[in-house]
Amino acid sequence: MPVPGTDLRVGAAIRGEFPIFETATYLNSCSQGALSHRVREAVEGWLAGWDANGAEWEFWVERNEAFRSSIAALLHARTDDVAVTTSVSQGVSALVSGLPLEGERNRIVISEYEFPTVGQIAHAQELRGAEVVHVTPGEDGSIDADRFAEAIDERTALVCCTTLSYRSGHRHDVTAIAEIAHEAGALVLADSYQACGAVELDVRSLGADAVTGGTVKYLLGTSGLGFLYVRAGLLPKLLPSQTGWFADEDIFRMDISDYSPAADARRFDAGTPPVPNIYAGVAGMSIIEEAGTAAIEEHIASLGARLIDGLEELGAVVPTPRDPARRGPLVTVRSTDVRRLVDQLAAEKIVCSERDSNLRIALHLYNVEEDVDRLLDALRENRSLLA
Ligand SMILES: Cc1ncc(COP(=O)(O)O)c(C=O)c1O
Repeated sequence: MPVPGTDLRVGAAIRGEFPIFETATYLNSCSQGALSHRVREAVEGWLAGWDANGAEWEFWVERNEAFRSSIAALLHARTDDVAVTTSVSQGVSALVSGLPLEGERNRIVISEYEFPTVGQIAHAQELRGAEVVHVTPGEDGSIDADRFAEAIDERTALVCCTTLSYRSGHRHDVTAIAEIAHEAGALVLADSYQACGAVELDVRSLGADAVTGGTVKYLLGTSGLGFLYVRAGLLPKLLPSQTGWFADEDIFRMDISDYSPAADARRFDAGTPPVPNIYAGVAGMSIIEEAGTAAIEEHIASLGARLIDGLEELGAVVPTPRDPARRGPLVTVRSTDVRRLVDQLAAEKIVCSERDSNLRIALHLYNVEEDVDRLLDALRENRSLLA
């Protein structure tokens, strides 16, 4: 454990946990976080336990609850307000299945920056009579609360405003959007997959009624594990029809005669927990917990400023806002041939990704200034591939 105040557990202090940095400049945490020794050992521990003891059922259940508690601490929520899911898709589907969406209040408002799964789940509700309204970005690429205000009214049941765009790196003002939605009597879902682990998220001030995310990116775990926070006061009104036995008020009763969901957010759980992913998720999150999201956010903000300064010097087009309050760990830069650019960088052992025509550069606690400078040097050499 670090000595408080002497080792912030970010940057050079934590990099040795992640073998990939021995061979590559890893800037792709928006797709998948880097593998740590700790997560590898946790997954190996799961395999060893399986070998030695077969089904470690009680330990699995305990790990599932440990994960729920870690997410609650991360979000400053109560454990009872957190569901453990296998994906954002599962949690959002369960949540939306519990919305009445009938009568006058049948609209789902979604931002153009939602991840496909949220948009597709919203449109699937058209089968139940829902109407979906899209909120598009302004000329500068941002989607301000005012633009949401134009789309939200007394017909709106749910507003989906992703905390941070996976495409452009824009950060929504979730609190302002939630205020507008609540005035109209609508609920708010903030898909925070691109934010959790990299920025401080506090459900007490965020204002969203539901917050979802998962472990494969900035929480440093694997795919196949997620969470759904739901504000406590809403639970009695939300009865998910997409459900499973782990959502029951008593999973050990093994009763097939009725539907009696848990009183708390466990009603959005589903089937057998994704045990191997939980081992990885709890271990990955422990690295985030030790560093603290406030320190991580600060570290990322300073690397982001250095990166954007360098990109501006190159005369590149940066769709992501400069203001740290309006972005997070993801910085995007426009390319004339982004596939080729990603391949060129990969050939130099710099790992980035792409969406639309933008190169995506994702910064996290393990990145250091040299990573940013190395990337900038490579982009200078490939200047012709930048718009
Ligand atoms: C913002 C956002 N939401 C959701 C997802 C994925 O959701 P799921 O866990 O359903 O695969 C991603 C992953 O790439 C994402 O970036």
